Amino acid sequence: MNNFTFYNPVKILFGKGQISSITKEIPTGARIMVTYGGGSIKKNGVYDQVMAALQDFEVSEFGGIEPNPHYETLMKAVALAKEKQVTFFLAVGGGSVIDGTKFIVAAMEYEGENPWNILAKREPVTRATPFGTVLTLPATGSEMNSGAVVTRVSTKEKFSFGSPFTFPKFSVLDPETTFTLPARQISNGIVDAFSHVLEQYLTYPVNAPLQDRMAEAILLTLKEEGPKAVQNPQDYDTMANFMWAATMALNGVIRVGVPTDWATHYIGHELTALHGIDHARTLAIVFPALLRYKSETKKEKLLQYGDRVWGVASGSESERLEATLQATVDFFESLGIKTRLSDYEVGEDTINTIIRRFEERGVKDLGERADIQIQDVKEILTLSL
Ligand code: NZQ
Ligand code: ZN
Repeated sequence: MNNFTFYNPVKILFGKGQISSITKEIPTGARIMVTYGGGSIKKNGVYDQVMAALQDFEVSEFGGIEPNPHYETLMKAVALAKEKQVTFFLAVGGGSVIDGTKFIVAAMEYEGENPWNILAKREPVTRATPFGTVLTLPATGSEMNSGAVVTRVSTKEKFSFGSPFTFPKFSVLDPETTFTLPARQISNGIVDAFSHVLEQYLTYPVNAPLQDRMAEAILLTLKEEGPKAVQNPQDYDTMANFMWAATMALNGVIRVGVPTDWATHYIGHELTALHGIDHARTLAIVFPALLRYKSETKKEKLLQYGDRVWGVASGSESERLEATLQATVDFFESLGIKTRLSDYEVGEDTINTIIRRFEERGVKDLGERADIQIQDVKEILTLSL
């Protein structure tokens, strides 16, 4: 096992009715800004529950944070929050609202020349305004990690950042808030969480059986609960299991002491930036192609994954690898998520654009072995056509 440092200070308030508990988690006298998205929280009663819990505080709000949150919009929130002298933020929504709020809290305290550099140049964040979250969409794990991904519409760029200062102080995970999710977002959430585990698990063995089995436990839970969640999003237990599995997939626990990949996410962000394809769908396109392309260097973990998650136990090595890749693709497709670039009417032009951008950016050494170069990205994307 590799050396590691583990730090995760996020307090989780899990279960029905927990929104009312936030009152105790926010400092007395805080001037709060509630951030949210396009309005789903106003239709399902979550907004009302939040406002009831905050009735003794001075509260302002900023709605309209888009899916794949826009830098341009977030900077408007920063201006408004500075004007109102906000001291605490509460993000209410999915990954986009939470990520957007992480950027807002970092930009609130930023003293450099251009806050875009927090993303584009990964300028270190040294302070941030504190914030909590109320999660309404199990998927990204943003509610229990310190990372965020932000899109700049004017340049079609999508970049991430993270810092120890952008962990939420607390996150409410009430499965009842997910009852209004459309099937498309549930499927996206399952595939995103599943992919988060694969990024941290399908690498090479370092004799870390506990991390392996925890990763497999999350994959098996998503495999079993995911289809039930799509079928019946108002089943409390199903949504509770799905929600906790998605959080556990990216809160840092399964990453400790093991190599991680993340090339699929890095490449996938380009497809969202250029074509607006939902984040999870970009992963469903890139992952199968990447696993096929890297099946030799990932062989041991792929065979273990095939055996323990999909029951692929017989046949030659190459037959088992093929069956494992097919089982993964079938799972994504069974959730209604297409797995080829051509399904999204994206072709070679886009591949060439991504390659050109990576060359300009000097992208190199992706993947757990730092052996995926720009030419490899081209071959992976070509395999996914
Ligand atoms: O905006 P509203 O009206 O709230 O509607 C949202 C949005 O249209 C809707 N929704 C959310 N909760 C709902 C609901 N509709 C009905 N009922 C509810 N309870 O769902 C739509 C999508 O929401 P969004 O927040 O965009 O989805 P998701 O949670 O999948 O977040 C995606 C973003 O997270 C980033 C992605 O790149 C993308 O920008 N990621 C963040 C990560 C992180 N911070 O660790 C890791 C991930 O890999 C990912 O990159
Ligand atoms: Zn993801």
